[in-house]
Amino acid sequence: MIPQSLNPVQQVDFAFYIIFGISILLLVGITLTTIWFVYRYHHTRNPNPEDISGNLWAEVIWILLPTLIVMALFYYGWVGYKALRTVPDNAMTVKVTARMWSWVFEYENGKRSSVLYVPKDKPVKLIMTSDDVIHSLYVPAYRIKMDTVPRMETYAWFNPDTLGSYDVFCAEYCGLKHANMITTVEVMPPDDFTRWLEDKSASQGAGRALALFEGYGCIGCHTTDGSPNVGPSLKNLYGKKQQVTLKDGSTREIIVDEPYLRQAIIEPDAAIPEGFSPAMMSYKDVVNEDDMNVMIQWFMHGNEVSIDAGRELMMAEGCISCHSTDGSLVAGPTLKGIWGRTAVVMQDGTERSVPSDRAYLLESITDPGKAVVKGFDPIMPPYMHLTEEQLDQMLQYMQSLSEDK
Ligand code: CUA
Repeated sequence: MIPQSLNPVQQVDFAFYIIFGISILLLVGITLTTIWFVYRYHHTRNPNPEDISGNLWAEVIWILLPTLIVMALFYYGWVGYKALRTVPDNAMTVKVTARMWSWVFEYENGKRSSVLYVPKDKPVKLIMTSDDVIHSLYVPAYRIKMDTVPRMETYAWFNPDTLGSYDVFCAEYCGLKHANMITTVEVMPPDDFTRWLEDKSASQGAGRALALFEGYGCIGCHTTDGSPNVGPSLKNLYGKKQQVTLKDGSTREIIVDEPYLRQAIIEPDAAIPEGFSPAMMSYKDVVNEDDMNVMIQWFMHGNEVSIDAGRELMMAEGCISCHSTDGSLVAGPTLKGIWGRTAVVMQDGTERSVPSDRAYLLESITDPGKAVVKGFDPIMPPYMHLTEEQLDQMLQYMQSLSEDK
């Protein structure tokens, strides 16, 4: 447990209430005094004004009172500041990288995520920086707001003592999609967190490519479902004829092939697709060769094939008869929007909320009785016979049902 003297939420709130309380006192006190003076010294009651040349007590109070108020404000501000800056020794470190317009959280084991998953009751220290301009990580629930600055490290910490999902905003105007720089802190039961942290299932194939796009912050600007954003959608890019503007201002038509895609990642400004502006940073020395190959593979072989295969498969396996794809309720939860939402499940008789991510969805298919979504009956049979590839196709289909159209 965090001692109360070092609990930033309580200290910050306390400082706020002190300031608020003093402000209210001054507001009410000054207003009432003014009204009293208007009444008491109205010319009908006080026809002959009197000159007052000095009043020792009025002066003493007038000096002492503001001094005490300002010192109290400083004291409580200082105590709150100390709580915000004193990280407990047992804190877990998460590296935060902000860029236009996404957040990337990197854990001690190298796992990256665009959502900040944390275990309950473990203080979290965020070590933050920015890849481009100044952003500011703002988590109202934990009373933290700290700028992220290029080529500089800043830090903040919080104590996630209640399960749930808490908003994260960017609080420093950083361009076009500043308002979209939103994510969440998901506080999970420690066991669920460990399982999520150790889960490597997103480390192969198309799932890995999608995880990389997320981890490198690509999806802040590029969708994977074909809809346009700040940058072109990543879907069906490969093989497309594309009008581009070169550095010298000339335009030409190219075919999106492997060399072009590599260049677009390493040196995005070299050839800008028509209709887009040069807003992307260079990922040179950011993306390693291994990750690059995985992403290129995804571009080349597309996810379209897998999504179609996944749809076929889920119909063939009978999934669709219990799970709708349009948001309506049948026997089980709808598949629409299933990817990435938070599921409230009953597990071993207790209620918990888990992110409906790759690991959870895989488990729901192969061992559905383990964590049943609250409000539904545990009637789904386990689907043990599916191959790794089939599961992957199903997941991609589900993901495609969850992307904003
Ligand atoms: Cu990043 Cu505003």
